[in-house]
Order: sequence, then C-alpha cells, then structure tokens
Amino acid sequence: MDRYVLGERIDQSYLSVVYHGVERSTGRAAVLKFNKSLKHAPLLPRIMALDHPNLLVPSDVFMHDGSLVEVSPYCDWQLLSRVKKDVPLEVISGLGVQLAEALAALHGKGVVHHDVRGENVFVSTYFLQARLFDFDNACEPYFLEKSIDSWNDVPPEARTGACRVDFQWDVYQAGRLLQELTHSYDWGANKEIPKDRIPAGLLVVVQRAQADRKERYASGRELADALRRVS
Ligand SMILES: Nc1ncnc2c1ncn2[C@@H]1O[C@H](COP(=O)(O)OP(=O)(O)O)[C@@H](O)[C@H]1O
Ligand SMILES: [Mg+2]
Repeated sequence: MDRYVLGERIDQSYLSVVYHGVERSTGRAAVLKFNKSLKHAPLLPRIMALDHPNLLVPSDVFMHDGSLVEVSPYCDWQLLSRVKKDVPLEVISGLGVQLAEALAALHGKGVVHHDVRGENVFVSTYFLQARLFDFDNACEPYFLEKSIDSWNDVPPEARTGACRVDFQWDVYQAGRLLQELTHSYDWGANKEIPKDRIPAGLLVVVQRAQADRKERYASGRELADALRRVS
C-alpha cells in the first residue's frame, strides 16, 4: 500500500470500493479497487499478462487488510453506458470489433469475462476506441446446474440452468450491447426496431450473437471476424 497515495472515493458497491490514487514512484494517476471477494484472484495473473489495446487490466495487485487491491492506470474516458445514446452509427461496428477483440484475447487465455455491459466498457472521445475492464466476475468455463436470476442481460440458457457457461456467455452479452446501440425502442409497436441506416449485414451479426447456443458465435474471435466482414 505504501507505493500509492490514496485519493477520493470514486465508487462503492456491495463487495468493492474504488478510489483515485497516485503511484508514488512515478506520480501517475491510478485507480485502486479494494475487493472483499477473492473469487477471481486466481485468474488475475493470466488477465494481467494481457497487453491489449481494448482491455484495461490491473497493473498491480496485492492484499491489504483482508481485501484484494487491484491497481489500474486511471482512464479518463467515458462509460459506454452513459453515452450509448450519443454513439454515431458510423462507429458502432468499429466499437463492436474492438469489444470482440478484447473478448478474443481473454478467451485465448481460457477466461470468460462474464460481465460484459456498458458499465464495464470505457469509450474514448469521438467513440473511436473501446476498453473493457472490471474482471471481478471473470471465470473459467463451467457447467451451471441451477438457473440464474439477474437484473443484467444474461444468456437465455442461464435462466433455465443446466447449461455450460463459456465464451458464448460473453458473445451474448456483447450482442446485447450492440443490440442497444443499433436499435431504438418503438413504444407504439412495443418492440425494438433497427435504427435508420444500420447496415443489414451488421444486424444479422448482432442477431446471431444473441441467438441460441447452436447458432451463436463460439467466441470473441468468431464475433470479431464476423463484425469485420460487415464493417
Ligand atoms: N481504471 C479506471 N479509471 C477510471 N475510472 C475507473 C477505473 N476503474 C474503475 N473506474 C470507475 O469505478 C467504477 C467502478 O469500477 P468497476 O471496476 O466497474 O467496479 P464494480 O465492481 O463496482 O462494477 C467505474 O464505473 C468507473 O467509474
Ligand atoms: Mg463494473
């Protein structure tokens, strides 16, 4: 802990508290996340070894007073969840490719992110770059016995249970995010309709990313390749 100066609190949730900080030796702005849950700790070495432009991974990790502390470089971009209404149509497939490439890198290490949503994606000014973060829910593929009841978008098979949780989980959640960016809600018709000028090919890919497991892309790699073909 001596290596960092702790600043103001940024955010707090059930299991974690996030603070501004400064690394003493370099003076660099950092973010320190104190986590009560250690579930994902065994995967951190694999995640931290990834040097990928579309991932914001911890640069340091240690224990402090029973909490797992993850240090990340401070990112001054915006959360995709806050700016999703402003994302220009022209950049959606590009952001999708970047998100899928981030997943491909994680999947290549055998890691499921397991919490892909706009709250865990930073986007740069003008929406040209995206970085996925928050690895608290990361896991290795496993078999889910029971059903999951969640506020978040989880794949349909998880609502019934007795299914595999693997890279297709992330593909589905990325698909949901892209669905939100490419569609708007028609209150009259009571359904989501594609926004004007979204290429038909992109809509097909977004659909397949959210399809049942048999139809859904198998991994971030497959999704990234499909998105590139329609970009
Ligand atoms: N590297 C970072 N740079 C700037 N802000 C960050 C960084 N990491 C997290 N935050 C801020 O803290 C919030 C919570 O971080 P997150 O890791 O998503 O925690 P939680 O587990 O509570 O979702 C983010 O929404 C963001 O506002
Ligand atoms: Mg989060």
